[in-house]
Amino acid sequence: MDYLRIQGPTKLSGTVTISGAKNAALPLITLALLAHNPLKITNMPEVADIKTLLKLLQNLGASCTLQNHVLNVDTSTVNHTMANYDIVKTMRASILVLGPLLARFGHCEVSLPGGCAIGQRPIDLHLKALEQMGAQITIHAGYVHALAPEGLKGAHIIFDKITVTGTANIVMAAALAHGKTVLVNCAKEPEVVQLCEILRDSGIDITGIGTSELTIIGTGGKTIDMVDFEVIPDRIEAGTYLCAGAITNSTITLERVRPDHLDAVTAKLEQMGCRVECGETTMTIHPAERLKHVDIITQEYPAFPTDMQAQFMALATLSSGTSIIEERLFENRFMHVSELQRLGADIKLNGHTAMVTGGSPLFGADVMATDLRASSALVLAAMTAEGTTNVHRIYHLDRGYENLEQKLQALGASIERLKE
Ligand code: UD1
Repeated sequence: MDYLRIQGPTKLSGTVTISGAKNAALPLITLALLAHNPLKITNMPEVADIKTLLKLLQNLGASCTLQNHVLNVDTSTVNHTMANYDIVKTMRASILVLGPLLARFGHCEVSLPGGCAIGQRPIDLHLKALEQMGAQITIHAGYVHALAPEGLKGAHIIFDKITVTGTANIVMAAALAHGKTVLVNCAKEPEVVQLCEILRDSGIDITGIGTSELTIIGTGGKTIDMVDFEVIPDRIEAGTYLCAGAITNSTITLERVRPDHLDAVTAKLEQMGCRVECGETTMTIHPAERLKHVDIITQEYPAFPTDMQAQFMALATLSSGTSIIEERLFENRFMHVSELQRLGADIKLNGHTAMVTGGSPLFGADVMATDLRASSALVLAAMTAEGTTNVHRIYHLDRGYENLEQKLQALGASIERLKE
């Protein structure tokens, strides 16, 4: 197993190019299941989660080649409808094949993802919505068996909770359903918006894009003549590099970003005393003279993202005063707390709230990555800690950060990948 060795404290400088968004690319790859033509998708991040999903599509019979961030995918040859446990257990987002497979073939079998490090993460809202569209759903031997032999029917669906992959799954199902589907209380994340825009650009009648209510007129089972497209930049990777500048007291510039997708993150950095300068596709972080404490509540977009909570916690360990960080989306997303404490951070947990008192010096130690974003928080903290930090179990990082250590090395960090 690989681990990262980081020497701190470090100062960064220069420019980093942000990759395509993993969380946009995942549903967009499964969207290809609705296309009858081969597709070319550019700015595809080359990270483990994407490779896992491509393997799943290949198992279904699709042909996929990913080279130099360009994915060519042809799903006209798909002849299986089963997403098996071996793949789904490694990546929950595999559930995104459920809506498209059912809509296109009238049946499919998808392994239940199970829980994960940050919480229980049920898929009940995906299943309930498909049932409202006429699907018969049974759970047997760890698999969701979904049937809609006459095709899915448009429905009026109100999501009990805002769900990102749930919205994406049902939007894709609705695109091939018979008649009109109205989805209420949808996710408005940029990744969902891009999915809807591509459907619209491919001729699907879809309105309300970017709002919490979407109306979609389905094709009645006909596959779609889909346009080629480019994956939007990864706002979470971008936010992580902004934090890298802030935590190492460095000025760095990000290229190929969408600053408007990072408004909530930028606002918090500015409250902490940093200055963020935005161009059309660039962002430069100027560090604070003295980082101020900040209060954060994670919520759905456009509010502050849960996927940036751990990185801001690392940042808060350096600030003056006490920061209150409340996690509202996932019940167990504080696994990084005990690892940050190993580096010397002063953090007290009370249910869904963490109190981070800044100013205690951090010292290098051996720490364990527990999930994707928690891992990046440990890397950030390690860059300011005195001495050597070894971050173990970095397969979590490889799931979602493209070339993290090369990008940080190019900015001047002392970071290397070693084998246990
Ligand atoms: C997506 C992102 C993930 C991010 C999360 C929240 C992808 C691939 N992943 O995950 O990085 O952290 O959004 O922004 O895009 N819920 C239910 N029942 C359901 C579905 C969700 O109770 O059927 C709950 C979840 O347990 C959670 C909340 O709703 O508490 C939000 O989850 P959801 O938006 O679905 O997260 P994901 O789409 O899995």
